[in-house]
Amino acid sequence: MAIPNQTHSDAFVFFGASGDLAFKQIFPALLGLVRDEGLDIPIIGVARTQWSLDEFKKRAEESVKTHGGDIKSDAFKKLLSLLHYVSGDYADPKVFAQLRKELGDAKCPLHYLAIPPFLFSEVAGQLAQSGCAENARLVVEKPFGRDRESADELSQILDKYFSEKNIFRIDHYLGKEPVQNILYTRFANSIFEPLWNRNYVRSIQITMAENFGVQDRGSFYDSAGAIRDVLQNHMLQILASLTMDPPTGQEHEALRDRKASLLKSVRPLDANHIVRGQYKGYQGVPGVKPGSTVETYAAAKLYIDSWRWEGVPIFIRTGKCLPVSVAEAVVEFKRPPRETFGEIKAIGCGHMRFRIQPDVAIALGTRVKVPGDRMIGDDVELVLTRQPGVDRPPYQRLLGDAMEGIADLFTREDIVDAEWRIVGPILDNVTPVYSYDQGTWGPSEADQLFGADGRWLNPSPK
Ligand code: BG6
Repeated sequence: MAIPNQTHSDAFVFFGASGDLAFKQIFPALLGLVRDEGLDIPIIGVARTQWSLDEFKKRAEESVKTHGGDIKSDAFKKLLSLLHYVSGDYADPKVFAQLRKELGDAKCPLHYLAIPPFLFSEVAGQLAQSGCAENARLVVEKPFGRDRESADELSQILDKYFSEKNIFRIDHYLGKEPVQNILYTRFANSIFEPLWNRNYVRSIQITMAENFGVQDRGSFYDSAGAIRDVLQNHMLQILASLTMDPPTGQEHEALRDRKASLLKSVRPLDANHIVRGQYKGYQGVPGVKPGSTVETYAAAKLYIDSWRWEGVPIFIRTGKCLPVSVAEAVVEFKRPPRETFGEIKAIGCGHMRFRIQPDVAIALGTRVKVPGDRMIGDDVELVLTRQPGVDRPPYQRLLGDAMEGIADLFTREDIVDAEWRIVGPILDNVTPVYSYDQGTWGPSEADQLFGADGRWLNPSPK
């Protein structure tokens, strides 16, 4: 894809520097960028926590120790030397005057808002007033609003201070190698494209399961739920990568244009096509409201209203406290039009499987004869690639790209809007929430999304 000529960001500023996301993701990603890509620009943390620079460095050390990286390495020493810290209230102009000072000669800073969205407006406005927004890039984190309207309001606020080409919206699933590999495998080969449509595909399934609960995020999670937290974004991004048309032309927006166009053709969900669940014990998590009806599990049946996909059901599900942590997509092919060998067991359909995590695999499932007198067979997989989990964390890739102004792996205002359009009708309490036991595949009601002739394909742990 042609990338327009870009200026490299010459300072990296992250708001929410004392927070959870910084601790879990940002410090390790910055260390990776220093180590692997020679990042050598001022890195300025901003947060309300009153820390000295040394205390901030200590936090970086703890983060890297806990979430991966070598604190004895030269790269870590280099990272420490690049750190600056500004503390104070985001409503206080003095904080931004101090930030301006710390930016020194930087002409093209990148500001990363790793803070709750209700603060975006305040911070974006203060950045503009203090002169820190000039020629700057802005990286924002999901959730992008709570529904279509609030996402639109948020975009309008950001657009007041930053031009759209300088706004980078993170959906970290786009930074995952195996998600990129879905697109790559589809479009770097010509054998799949003729099969990739309603004539050959029977159904698609996408599962994103986690074998743990909401942990210490009860209060955030209870205001979101599985549909807002992952289905509306990560899962629809996987769906788009599996089903979009190939990008055309050399325009650097070609990929995102195709993705947007696919998502705009997904039929909005209705109450008959969604099943929500809540794991037993969720109500006891600190921060969860008593009697909460927020879902920790969601399964949906979707359709894409296009010539390519008309009538092909797409089943997606996600949940906390399921038996395994795994993300996988399976494109099931149609059965042969008649059974030639009269096998008693219904034969497999053939499939293409994309394993996203914890390990990575792309495999083509077919049926082959087992040795012997009779014409009976077995379902086997031709594994095209199999790798252990991928090393480079998505945040390293994404922050590196944002600093170079490469937007392909970021979501876009119209894509976010299309995603909210799909889930809009089933948000909140439109449907009942069924409880399920921890360690199971969710409420049995989700099986009813299939007719007599289908079932969930439960991915194995390995
Ligand atoms: C986040 C959600 O966006 O994605 C979390 O807020 C979820 O609830 C996480 O656990 C999953 O990401 P990953 O990369 O661990 O699969």
